[in-house]
Amino acid sequence: MQEKTSDRFVVNGLGGKKTLSGKIRVNGAKNAALKLMAASVLFNDSVKLKNVPSIEDVYRMRDLLRASGAEADELKKGEYRIKTGGMKKDGELDHEISKRLRASIVATGPMLSRFGRVSFPHPGGCVIGARPIDLFIEGFEKMGASVRVSKKGTKDWYRISAKAGKLRGARIFFKQQSVTATETFMMAAVLAKGKTVLKNAALEPEIKHLADFLSKGGAKIKGAGTTTIEIKGGSLLQMRGRSFKIMPDRIETGSFLILGALAGKNIEIVDCNPVNVESLIQLLELSGVKIKTGKTNIIIKGNGVKNKNLKSVSVKTHEYPGFPTDLQAPMVVYLTQVKGESLVFETIFEGRLNYTESLARMGATTETWDPHRIMVKGPTELSGRVLESPDLRAGLAFVIAAIVAKGESVVHNVYNIDRGYEKIEERLKKIGVDIVRVKN
Ligand code: UD1
Repeated sequence: MQEKTSDRFVVNGLGGKKTLSGKIRVNGAKNAALKLMAASVLFNDSVKLKNVPSIEDVYRMRDLLRASGAEADELKKGEYRIKTGGMKKDGELDHEISKRLRASIVATGPMLSRFGRVSFPHPGGCVIGARPIDLFIEGFEKMGASVRVSKKGTKDWYRISAKAGKLRGARIFFKQQSVTATETFMMAAVLAKGKTVLKNAALEPEIKHLADFLSKGGAKIKGAGTTTIEIKGGSLLQMRGRSFKIMPDRIETGSFLILGALAGKNIEIVDCNPVNVESLIQLLELSGVKIKTGKTNIIIKGNGVKNKNLKSVSVKTHEYPGFPTDLQAPMVVYLTQVKGESLVFETIFEGRLNYTESLARMGATTETWDPHRIMVKGPTELSGRVLESPDLRAGLAFVIAAIVAKGESVVHNVYNIDRGYEKIEERLKKIGVDIVRVKN
């Protein structure tokens, strides 16, 4: 999404030097927080979430819930209380907010399950490919809902209603593994009549995390974190005054790890879960980076090896536990600095290599084979440039590139970075990055 009025970052690069040092904290996971906020619709009492990151996408999900009549308040930093008892029963999701946030699609599952109907537009979010919603439409139909597509003025609407106001359990085989579809149907099934079986479900850790949250409220879910998930439908969930802590963000963890490998002297990444970034750790180690992992921290120590002495590694993005597509852009920045040719194969989204044109302007040597594959040839010296953050993941990759580069870079469209990363500049400054936010 383009927010032309948003702030910009000015970064003074290190010119390839490895000087960053200190601790950098990982926040709660965006892609977990958003789903748990949506899942609060399935509860009949108030839900308290802790470690919620202060990011734009969380504010949009908060606004989306509020627009439907829920109470969603940040009681203190990172702690939200959400009450859905007073929600409107028409199941309509705010058009404009849904358009701004791809994750709004996950709210359709709990809304339809609770109110027997839901209407929403084709969801927005990052422009990283076609991002269809066929899996959602097919799944809702399997659960006994009817789907109408309508247009009112310039507004498109999907209007979905469950037969006799209640979804029924179903066997749903996803023709493609999808994180949000798995989460949406796991939630839809919680209040459906009878048993739902999801096959070829996605395995991302945020899914198991969501299942743990729902189970804490009384949901009956088996198999989350495997490709087959079984949910027995029941009545509204109850939190009974307890709270739930959002898991650490694995994409933030991975991005800091890449930054540490490229520009760190002694970096410790804290409050993370190293197990969730194993695919990245394995590739960086293969490339020659020395990494030490603890239970909740990762250390890059004595990282004196010159980047040009590190080896190239090829990367293929894959559903979890494979290499995450959300770390592909920062990884490409890494590969511009190491010696040799690396093939990068983006298998999940077809528009997700477009940002490499900007890296080429900074001096990177990349050769595009097709919309899914590029060859990166390193090492190349990067030079500071004026850049525009195209989406939140590539946006952070540009900041990493700017830190590695020689001279000054300006990264526009910081809204895109703020969507997913809380006050990133403040955390980067603490480890020695020369970065300033210029307000618009
Ligand atoms: C989620 C993450 C996103 C991450 C992506 C892949 C959230 C809010 N976002 O996005 O950060 O990049 O997983 O790990 O959690 N597909 C269909 N039909 C559908 C739905 C998806 O064909 O109805 C396809 C997509 O085009 C894509 C693939 O399935 O090729 C996987 O996408 P999916 O896992 O759904 O991504 P998101 O859930 O949108």
